[in-house]
Amino acid sequence: MTITIVGHGYVGLVSACVFADFGNTVYVVGHTPEKLERLKNGDPIIYEPGLKEVLEKNNKAGRLIFTTDYVESVSQSEIVFITVGTPPKENGEADLSVVLKVAEEIAKNLGDTFTVVSCKSTVPVGTNKKIEEIINKCKKGSAQFAVASCPEFLREGSALHDTFHADRVVIGSESQKAIDLLLKVHTPITGKKIVTDLASAELIKYTSNSVLAMKISFANLISFYCEKTGANVELVLDAVGLDQRIGRIFMDPGVGYGGSCFPKDVKALISTGKLFGIDTQLLEAVDTINEDARINLLNKIIAQVKGKKIAIWGLSFKPNTDDIRFAPSVDIIRALLEKGYELSVYDQEGMNNIKKIFGDKLHYVTNAYDALQEVDALVILTDWNEFKNVDLNKVKKLMKQPLIFDGRNIYDLQTMKELGFNYISTGRATISL
Ligand code: UGA
Repeated sequence: MTITIVGHGYVGLVSACVFADFGNTVYVVGHTPEKLERLKNGDPIIYEPGLKEVLEKNNKAGRLIFTTDYVESVSQSEIVFITVGTPPKENGEADLSVVLKVAEEIAKNLGDTFTVVSCKSTVPVGTNKKIEEIINKCKKGSAQFAVASCPEFLREGSALHDTFHADRVVIGSESQKAIDLLLKVHTPITGKKIVTDLASAELIKYTSNSVLAMKISFANLISFYCEKTGANVELVLDAVGLDQRIGRIFMDPGVGYGGSCFPKDVKALISTGKLFGIDTQLLEAVDTINEDARINLLNKIIAQVKGKKIAIWGLSFKPNTDDIRFAPSVDIIRALLEKGYELSVYDQEGMNNIKKIFGDKLHYVTNAYDALQEVDALVILTDWNEFKNVDLNKVKKLMKQPLIFDGRNIYDLQTMKELGFNYISTGRATISL
């Protein structure tokens, strides 16, 4: 098949590489020639494990074509996927301006044969109908098309695996022809195929992300109870999670969720709810508890660090990515700088992105131990494996005092006690010398 994918972020580029790997010819439309040139040369721009290799392989095979040109790409494609960003506006609503602009460009360039225009961007319920209206308004008279919602469920850091081995493929459309084409292009993916109407597909995506965000906020809420009562959040959640109706996964408390999806999607679902007069208190609480998780950690740091020098390990919003969008690190660093702390920071992949925000306000180091020279405390914000496997004796020797705030609960309490650390984690006993 010939496919066009508009956008080359996490969803666009990963989908393009996967569909190309299945043997399709995939046009990837972007608007920055310099970025497209990098992609042509095998540089994925973002850090995502394994992506560079699949990109290079499919570039070499001639199955990926990077272009700014909607004419050649769209007119030849059976399916056009929209994968551009829907960032949050000030009021929490999803900003659809790019999606709708792209729909207009696609409309003007539809070919003479039937085309499915399928939105993979996360868009509020009703958006695919708007896309349909725009295309009907802007297309040439003869062009035949149908819209479909095909939400994406990949996680950053494991995006290729999640796409090749998706649990489910959701296809929402009112057109059987569109559904058949989308089923065909997804054939190599063995996950369950769910065919729905447009609105249901749009809501499936927001429901998935909001339930996951709710599980994390629930774990954080319970960690607050544990801290006040002396209970251990891990014991509580391990036992609760054995109930198969609940499950233990996505219930790790700490400094809260970040990234370009959960924070934005919970807020957007609240915003859609308000539009329809729905009571959105549950979602608002999910969002507030997530902020409280950051504040909880900050208060502990401010109350207990005596000096002014702090090391931060972990800047990306989760391991295996360089993405720092809505990362807990950004909020924590900003608040600590305001309080006058001097910060040395380290992350395997997120350094360049954090530099773009904080410039020369931070001290950047190239390995985890270098951040620790003479610091009064270490704060851990991302659960990279590297931090789980450090030499803790060496860590202790380098620090002015052995004080660790762990926003991801990566160390065992007994080990930290035996090694002689003051160790403050989330929802678990404080270890103090
Ligand atoms: C999330 C969803 O998991 C994907 O299914 C979805 O496709 C994606 O959003 C999207 O909408 O594009 P992602 O944001 O890449 O994926 O990463 P997650 O692994 O979900 O982690 C999100 C945040 O939650 C991270 O900051 C992580 O540290 C945090 N988290 C996760 C916790 O604090 N506790 C947990 O138990 C799990």
